[in-house]
Amino acid sequence: MRLILSQCLANLSVRFLMNRNSYNKIAHLWNVARNGFFGREREYLDAILSVAPIGSTILDLGCGTGRPMAEYIVSRGRCVLGVDQSEEMLRLARQKLPHEQWVLSSIESYEPVEGYHGALLWDSLFHIRRTEHELIVSKVVRGLPSGGRLMLTVGGSAHPEFTDFMYGEEFYYDSNTPQETETFLQRLSCRMVIGEYMNLPDGGRDKGRYAIVAEKI
Ligand SMILES: C[S@@+](CC[C@H](N)C(=O)[O-])C[C@H]1O[C@@H](n2cnc3c(N)ncnc32)[C@H](O)[C@@H]1O
Repeated sequence: MRLILSQCLANLSVRFLMNRNSYNKIAHLWNVARNGFFGREREYLDAILSVAPIGSTILDLGCGTGRPMAEYIVSRGRCVLGVDQSEEMLRLARQKLPHEQWVLSSIESYEPVEGYHGALLWDSLFHIRRTEHELIVSKVVRGLPSGGRLMLTVGGSAHPEFTDFMYGEEFYYDSNTPQETETFLQRLSCRMVIGEYMNLPDGGRDKGRYAIVAEKI
């Protein structure tokens, strides 16, 4: 029993450290690559901001360098509370947007406190074990006001957890399917505003990516 528990804890810290170390190493490359919106990202973000008053705060879990999401949010008169596990990503975010709040934390251990009017889990949830997704999203939804919106991405197909390489570094991925994610969002009293593929799975390396904007009822 003790052995199983210690193996689980070891796996957990390997996953966590792998992604944190890898993102620290590629932060500057990520920052350069993320110099604009991909697909309809800006429209998803507009759907979040359309129900968030000017001056309100948007929670961004797995914020990266704040580019382009936080930059756009601030340019539209809202504030950002960004959370990320990577010191390097946050250093670049702070450099660009020194007046916003940047918190070094894992998403899993972060406890959102009410006061934000929209939330992002953009391309970050799929770096966490799928069994934890509903709990994480439930905490985010709990802190949203009724009518507040959340945007997130999940993997686009049913697939076991895996690792893959980006800029020569290894990353861990896991995801519920889009349908499973929409089902638990409904369980959490959210209605779907947008649910669509950003890219379809190609049956090989690309497992697809699915965008969701959901509103707390
Ligand atoms: C693919 S990048 C996306 C960054 C940003 N959301 C964007 O749209 O460009 C994933 C980000 O999530 C962060 N991240 C991944 N897993 C995390 C975790 N468990 N806790 C906190 N941050 C995490 C990474 O450090 C990285 O900055």
